[in-house]
Formats: sequence, C-alpha cells, structure tokens
Amino acid sequence: MRKLFLIVSFCISTIGVYAQSIINETESGDGEAVAMQTPIAIIPQPVSLMKKSGTFTLPENIVIQAQKSGDLKQSIAFLSDRITTATGKFVSTANSAAHPTIKLILNTQDDTQLGNEGYKLNVNPTQIVITANKPAGIFWGVQSLVQLFPAEIESKEVVKNIKWQAPCVDVIDYPKLGWRGLMFDVARHFFTKDEVKRFVDDMVRYKFNLLHLHLTDDEGWRIEIKGLPKLTEVGAWSVKKVGTFGDFTPPTADEPRSYGGFYTQEDIKEIVQYAQERFVNILPEIDVPGHSLAAIASYPELSCTADAVNYKVRSGEKIMDWSRGAPPLALVDNTLCPANEKVYVFLDTVITQVAKLFPFEYIHMGGDEAPHNFWEKNDQVKQLMQREGLKTIPQVQAYFEKRVEQIVVSKGKKFMGWDEILEGGVSPTASVMSWRGLKYGIEASKNKHNVVMSPTDFAYLDYMQADVITEPKVYASLRLNKTYQFNPIPASADPKYIIGAQANLWTEQIFNFRQVQYMIWPRAFAISESVWSPIEKKNWTNFVDRTEQHFERLDLAETKYSAAIYDPSITVRRTPDKQLMIELTPEIDGLDIYYSFDNSTPDRFYPKYTAAITPPKDASMLRIISYKGKQVVGRLISLPITDLQKRAR
Ligand code: ACM
Repeated sequence: MRKLFLIVSFCISTIGVYAQSIINETESGDGEAVAMQTPIAIIPQPVSLMKKSGTFTLPENIVIQAQKSGDLKQSIAFLSDRITTATGKFVSTANSAAHPTIKLILNTQDDTQLGNEGYKLNVNPTQIVITANKPAGIFWGVQSLVQLFPAEIESKEVVKNIKWQAPCVDVIDYPKLGWRGLMFDVARHFFTKDEVKRFVDDMVRYKFNLLHLHLTDDEGWRIEIKGLPKLTEVGAWSVKKVGTFGDFTPPTADEPRSYGGFYTQEDIKEIVQYAQERFVNILPEIDVPGHSLAAIASYPELSCTADAVNYKVRSGEKIMDWSRGAPPLALVDNTLCPANEKVYVFLDTVITQVAKLFPFEYIHMGGDEAPHNFWEKNDQVKQLMQREGLKTIPQVQAYFEKRVEQIVVSKGKKFMGWDEILEGGVSPTASVMSWRGLKYGIEASKNKHNVVMSPTDFAYLDYMQADVITEPKVYASLRLNKTYQFNPIPASADPKYIIGAQANLWTEQIFNFRQVQYMIWPRAFAISESVWSPIEKKNWTNFVDRTEQHFERLDLAETKYSAAIYDPSITVRRTPDKQLMIELTPEIDGLDIYYSFDNSTPDRFYPKYTAAITPPKDASMLRIISYKGKQVVGRLISLPITDLQKRAR
C-alpha cells in the first residue's frame, strides 16, 4: 500500500529557530512509504549514489568498528567528535562488537575501481559500512557520511530535538584527480599555525588533499632557515597597515616593524604532521627570483642592485607598475641576482632544509612575475649573458630556473614553477603550475611536462565574488558560476600530464582568517567538484541547491562564507541618448530583486526589478535587495548614482 507522509519538523538550532519541511517520499521494501530526511547534498558530487528506501537512525550508544584502528585513527576521531559534540550520544570503538553501528573496513584485496582515495559507503537501516583500499578512502567516505546527517551535525554544541537520521544509500566514489589543492598565501599577511590547521580542517571536509603554502614574498619570509637567521629576524616583519593593500603610504622610519611572523621548523613539522594525518600533502613554495624582497631586505647581497642595502620588507605600499602590462616594471629590485653565485649557495641552504621539512615530492620555486627592468641595465647580468651565450632576459630567467631545478633535484625532489618558467627554454623535467589561463598548461602537457591547472579565470579565489561596492577591492572578479565551469582537463590538453588542479588564495586584501574563509567558501565547493567529480555529474542548478544546504552547515560550524550568489551582478551602460541604464542580473534562479531611488531601504513591497532601470533625474542613490519568496537573502546594496555614472564612462 502506498501512503504519503508529509512531515514538517521544527528544528531548534543553536543559531536560531527555523522550520524545515521534509517532503521527500519513497517506497520501502515492504511497500510502506517512508519519510526521508533532508535532501541528499554531498559536495563534491559522488561518482555514483543510489538512494535506497528507509533511513538509518543514530542509536543512543554508537559503536564504531575498525579492524586496523591505528590506520583509521583520524577517521574514527573525526566521526566520534562530530557525533558526540552535536548529538551528545555516546560513541565507543570495539573491534569485536557483534553488531557495530558503523563499520570501517580496509579491503584486504584492492578494489581497483577505488584506487588510493576511493570508498564505498553503504547506509542501511541499522548499520553503516564504509570500505576502502586505503585509510584516505575511509576518511573521504566519512566526510560524505557526515554530509548525509542533518546540518546540525556540524554544531559546536549539543542540539536537541533532532532526528539524527541519514537516508539509506549506496555510494561508490573516487576522485578524478590525485592533486586537489588549495593555495594559501601566508606571506602577504601572516596566518598563525593554528589558522593553517583550521584551513586544513576546513578543506578536508570537501576532500581537498593538497595545501600549497606560499611561504615567501615581498611582504614576508615565513619559514625559519637555520644558518640564515635574518630571514626571520628581518624578513618576517613589516609595518601594520589596514585599508587597501598596494595603496599604502611608505612606512616612516619610526613606525614599528612588528607586524607579521613566521613558522619555526618545529611549527612546520607540526603543521605537516597535522595535514598528513588528514591525508593532506603540503607543497612548499619559495618564490624566486621575483617576489623576493623579504629575502633581499634580510640579505642585500642577494640582489644585483647596490641600493638594496636600503630596502625594507614591503608593508603593502606599491611595488610594481603594471600600466605597461607584463612583465611589470619593478619600482624596487625585488629579484634575486641570477649572476651572483652567492644566490645559488643561499638557495641550496634554503632548499636543503625545505626538502627535509616537507615530505611531499615537489617543491615549488615560484618563477612568476619576475620584472626585467633592473636586470636589463645591470652589468653583472650583462656579463652573465655574454658568458653563457644568453640573448634575452627570459633566457636569463631560464638559466636561473635550470640552476634552481638542479638544486631541487639534488635534494631528491621534483621542481615545479609558475608557468613563466616555460619562457626562455625550460628543462624537460620541470613541472608547471598554469595560472595565466589554461593555455600554458595545455601546451606544457603536450610537451610532456607534469601540469597543475590553477587558471585565474576559474580558480583565483582572491578575486571579488560580488560587486566591488560590497567587497574589498581587487582588480578582477570571479563569481561562483564561473568557478563552477572550471574544467581542469580541457579537451586539447594531454590528460596524462594533468596531474592536478587547485584554487589559489592570495592574501594582499585579506587581513584576517574570517575573510580567508569568506573568500574560500563557497567557491571552493565548485573547485572541489571540478577536481573530484566526473564532469558529466556536474549540474549548476543542483549544485546551487546543495550549496545552499551547505551554507546552513557552515553557519553551524561557525565558518564564514560569502552569500554573494544572492546579490545580483550590476552592469551600467548609456543609451545613445545618454540615459543611464542599470542592469541587475541574478546569479541563481528564484530571486526577486527590489529597489529604491528615494534613499529608503527597500523590502519586498517596493518596486520589483524586471528590466533595466534608469534613475529618476535627481536621484542620488540606488538601493537594492534580493528575496527568495518572502525571505530576504541578499545584502542591502547602496549604489551612489555618481558611482554608477563613472562606471558607465
Ligand atoms: C601569480 O598569480 N602571480 C602566480
């Protein structure tokens, strides 16, 4: 017999009271219709998910069984912590329990389909089973399992009056790419060891397995190197400034250089171990020969420029002039001198220690945006060119990169650099991180270089995700829907050489860790799906539904995120008769935008936007706000008409 159940449960959460309608119905094995909990919303989308009838309910006493519990320590700890913290239920581990609640099983014989990181997750009415070849697979399976429970499983305190149910499913899942990364720039602004660990905690929830730490730049050197103490005594410290990075006034001599910090080698070991336990590799980046002012301020002899003795670590004042395009003109010489043997001795010391501290097989040596203007007029560089038969400045950089690669390789590591290393003749064994679009990665893959794709057009999470009026200003924008279009293995590339993909978070305009989270989420959801899920499983509308459910999870986890999908894109143009036309384009379906020109705050009883609008003659402000039905979802955005007029110019 088929019956329809409609359950409306009122859930009280720690962040407020809201109603949750549960209307999915399905048929159970004996023909009884049963109510399902919240719709399934796993991110990244699994390879295969079959919904079965019935639900699993967490009992009061939960037993987790894992034969090789040592290997699965993190999976057990993570699962136990979520369950006990949010539900208050008792979790124990027992290898010999007759009917454990949750079984974590490592295959004795490899299931080839699953590889090193895949898993199978079976949720049945009375038991949950996760199987995998390797502990990493179990860990990723656990992440999917947690996402099957109500959002309140993310709460930091016990939530009462919740049905702790998960829908019965069979999941088979494994990643598209073995390198699924996020880059974190800890050089422009320093982030503490605990913040880096929190970054790892957040990324593994979405099955990222690589953390690229950008450890050095003009604004800071962040890693202790024994024998080179000034790198962290001098190079790690700048003058604290807030506002718009890049526009700051040059610090005066009396302003204290007390802003910044660095990781001791013990800190690095702790971070590496913390990440490893969570199946995350760390790729260290030492960015040379450009972006090296912190090193030069510490050891001016690394520069070809005599004036380097007066250089200081940058505090966010302008350093490059991009007005003539790439390569930029450096206002001070922030490059290591390619013609100075001391530079290679210095790099040998640094790379030796970096290689020991980071077990990952690659070291990233930067190579991006090295300006040419100081090298072009330097006598030492000219002599080097003559001696080595180098005709152009890109060939000088190529000479430098080859020497650096030799050092990296001599320490048993693989060399990686930003795609500029392809210019001037690259070594055949270099690996390339393609950032200036996909094209360099495509070419490099065809030339048999290992490639990691992280193109600005899809994967630069420092770019603004909403209108500039609501965001810290950055020179470019990247909305969630564009991020979601990221395909790291374009048809014209040789897929064999695309070893991974990642998103990059540069932190010039990011002054605190809450803003780090705001910039990462939800765009990293989109990246996670691009690097994990089969391309044919990607679906924007469905992804938006899941993203909205995960907003609730992030709220409960107290993780900041951007809700910019609810704010429209704003474009302005002038008609031939000079009328200003303002277009508001919602990023997702189902939004209504209301507006005012009378300086008051619009709500859903104000004019609804339906087509391009023109401000009344003397209006000074356009205010807009988005609703979903009766629910306000967007931010109140106030746009001075003078500002809009400037945009139209
Ligand atoms: C880069 O964004 N300069 C690699």
